[in-house]
Amino acid sequence: MTAMLSVADLGHTYQAKDGAHTAIADLSFTVGPGELVCVVGPSGCGKSTLLRTISGLVRPTRGEVTLHGNAVLGVPDDLAVVFQDYSRSLFPWLSVQKNVEFPLKRSLGRSARRARAAEALEWVGLSKAHRKYPWQLSGGMQQRVAIARALAYRPALLLMDEPFASVDAQTRFELEDLLLKVKAEHDTTVLVVTHDIDESVYLGDRILVLSGSPASVVADLPVRLPAPRDQITTRESDAFVGLRAEVARLLNVGKGSGEVRARRKADEQSAAKWAEAERAEVSRAEAEDRAASS
Ligand SMILES: Nc1ncnc2c1ncn2[C@@H]1O[C@H](COP(=O)(O)OP(=O)(O)OP(=O)(O)O)[C@@H](O)[C@H]1O
Ligand SMILES: [Mg+2]
Repeated sequence: MTAMLSVADLGHTYQAKDGAHTAIADLSFTVGPGELVCVVGPSGCGKSTLLRTISGLVRPTRGEVTLHGNAVLGVPDDLAVVFQDYSRSLFPWLSVQKNVEFPLKRSLGRSARRARAAEALEWVGLSKAHRKYPWQLSGGMQQRVAIARALAYRPALLLMDEPFASVDAQTRFELEDLLLKVKAEHDTTVLVVTHDIDESVYLGDRILVLSGSPASVVADLPVRLPAPRDQITTRESDAFVGLRAEVARLLNVGKGSGEVRARRKADEQSAAKWAEAERAEVSRAEAEDRAASS
């Protein structure tokens, strides 16, 4: 698959008054068109820094980000970001409706903008709040406005930093399903940073597990769960539970990836032993059946 987004040998060191701080050591990965990739990693490891470099807001001190084959040197047009600090990303002097319409000003006329914003506000359950101002809303509602604004824009690449962190559990499930629906309908490529391991497995086509600070890639795991995903049956499935445990293990021992490899090898060896024992049991039963019927 041709990469839509490519992050190559990326590194970033912040220069602060009290000295330099390396947030990202050396990251390389690609994301194909229409893929949803979840990024998990310990707090402070550099996930938001990674999204800032991909969105062109921060120029990396090392390596390169390319989108559709072009180096990212500023904020690309066909990209939308839901920031971790959503409260600062909304304009307090604009109504909810106008906030959602704002990025559409350059591409759509007035009535098309209105319709698009109304649809997105309905998706996130905020139709009734369209005339309110962000400061009149709860934190979770403001976050949903930021999500609506990004979805209304219908970007080719959507970057989301802890997008569902401050909504209640039920709304979180609904927004996860909304994201999967929008992604499937509009073929959007999505990169989601999340602290929630279950969420990374539920949403992702792939999961990138990052090490502690400075970030590097510990594992790039494919998620082989059937679509469409379902909040009850998918989360109950053996594949889901197994992958969730693997991500948790990788995060726990992210500092020593040698240990992770050793554990995975031991798991694989033990699985192979069980498979061999099962095969032997099946052949023995078949031989007994044959003997009994002859
Ligand atoms: N503008 C900045 N100047 C200096 N250091 C910074 C700046 N922004 C972030 N950092 C530092 O870089 C490191 C990575 O920060 P970043 O916000 O990318 O982490 P994160 O993985 O998103 O954390 P969290 O999971 O808590 O959101 C942290 O040590 C942070 O203090
Ligand atoms: Mg962050």
